[in-house]
Parts: sequence; structure tokens; C-alpha cells
Amino acid sequence: MKKVTALKKAVFPVAGLGTRFLPATKAQPKEMLPVVDKPLIQYAVEEAYAAGIRHMIFVTGRNKRAIEDHFDTAYELETELEAAGKQQLLALVRSMQPDDMDFSYVRQPRSLGLGHAVLCAEHLVGHEPFAVLLADDLMVGMPPVLAQMAAQFEELQQSLLAVQEVPLEHTRRYGIVAGDAVNERLMKVSKMIEKPAPDVAPSRMGVAGRYILTPAVFRHIRNQPRGVGGEIQLTDGIAGLMSEESVYAFQYAGKRYDCGSKEGFLEATVELALQHPDVGEHFRNYLKNLKIP
Ligand code: G1P
Repeated sequence: MKKVTALKKAVFPVAGLGTRFLPATKAQPKEMLPVVDKPLIQYAVEEAYAAGIRHMIFVTGRNKRAIEDHFDTAYELETELEAAGKQQLLALVRSMQPDDMDFSYVRQPRSLGLGHAVLCAEHLVGHEPFAVLLADDLMVGMPPVLAQMAAQFEELQQSLLAVQEVPLEHTRRYGIVAGDAVNERLMKVSKMIEKPAPDVAPSRMGVAGRYILTPAVFRHIRNQPRGVGGEIQLTDGIAGLMSEESVYAFQYAGKRYDCGSKEGFLEATVELALQHPDVGEHFRNYLKNLKIP
């Protein structure tokens, strides 16, 4: 019988500079930008938790301390809320660190690419499968996208990448995969290229920022030459892994918002505000009455 390994750890590469969102990200991490009332990184951590993951590993950099503080006890705030009898707010603040959740932080000392960021977490991940979540891709799905992937991984026990069809003119923004369909949602990947031009893209299936990877990927990331943009690319490491193990692409059910871009961030803000239990109704009425020239 196949040995089933459960997914216990998630890596969040959060060292990026967020240049697409300047000046907002000059002094604060892009992952702390709020969509309605929650920072992007909290959406990603909640998604990992919903997938059964309890150990969250952040690969951080300079100017990213706000992320550590966000997931730490806010002693002064909690004391004040308690004294003022604001139990609901207190519970909200405390709910972000459930007792069974662990956090680890490691620094990526230089911006050498996404593959390098993931490699920085190797000693914390060890020899087990792990998830990678890029927080600026905000994923909305029911069940949550990583939970869908975790269920698929439980069956496959092989690396799994979230993919979606992207417009041909956007292939330069994504890792693009091609391969053989296993079923409606699943494809066995035979080719994977980082940010190809439309005329050389092997398909229009673009990787969204959710991965479940086996630990063998670390060796391939380490041994590859620099890729696109002179960076150590995660895509190239996964392409290397394919020489040794099967890699699958999974078409998730749900929606991705590219919150690293202003357009995607605005779309997420509007759509999530419409669904929000406190402000949704008011916001819907406001939009209905808005005269758009
Ligand atoms: C990264 C990956 C790319 C992937 C994308 C998803 O690119 O390198 O393969 O498709 O995330 O958001 P980035 O957006 O960091 O340039």
C-alpha cells in the first residue's frame, strides 16, 4: 500500500519588495495591504489552516517586521480591549493565533528569486511535502483552493501546481505548463517554462501562486542555473523535479485575484466587500446608486 503523508507545513515567501504597488509599499510589506479588513497574508494563512496545515513558515526580508507582529500576541492592545470589556474585538485579535498553529521565520538575505526564497526554508521543512502560498495571489474558493489541492495530493502523493487558463498575451506573467490530461481538472505536466513570450508558450495554462511540492524539489532548485531575470526560479526547480518524479497541474474551482497589481487588488476589494457580512449590504447599495460616467 502507498504510504500517505499528510501536509503539515506551508511556506510563505514574503521577502519581495512590492515595486508594482509603490508608493504604498515603500515602508510597509505588500502582504500587509488590507482587502476590506484583513491583510493579504492573513487570507493566505487562513487558507493554509483550512487545508489542515498547522506550521506556517515565513521567508521574510528587511522591512517585513509588521508580518511577524501581526501573528504575534499584541499585549498592549489585548490588555486595553480587556479592560474596556470589548470581548468581541479581543476574540477577533486572538483568533488569529489558534493554539495549534506554529510560526517560524527565516530571512532571505538577498533578492535572488522565488526558488531561492523557497530554498531558504529547506531546513525548516525537512524531508516532507509542503505547500507554497504566494500571498499576493488572493484565492477565493469553496472549499478553499489549497484544501482542494490537499485533497487531491492525498490521493496522488506527488507535486501539484494550481493552474488556470490565462489570456495568450499574458503568458509572460506566469509559469506556463503543458502536458497530458488525466481528467477534467488534472494534468500530468511534461513541460514547464517561466514567463514565456506568447509565441513560444507551450499552452495557456498559467501557474497561480499555490503549490504542493515534495522535498526532492530542493535539490533541483539548488542545482539549476539562474533563470529568467537572472533569478533562481521555482519554476525551473520544478521542471528539474520532473526528471525524477511526476508533477501534476490542478485546475482549481475558484477565483484568483492578482493583488500584486493595482487592478487585481481593486477587483478583490470590490468583490470581497460585497460579500462581507458587516459592510456588504451598505456597499452594494452604494455601488447601485453610484453614477459611473
Ligand atoms: C511567480 C512565479 C510564476 C507564477 C506566479 C503566480 O511569478 O514565478 O511562475 O505563475 O508567481 O502569481 P511572480 O508573480 O512572482 O513574478
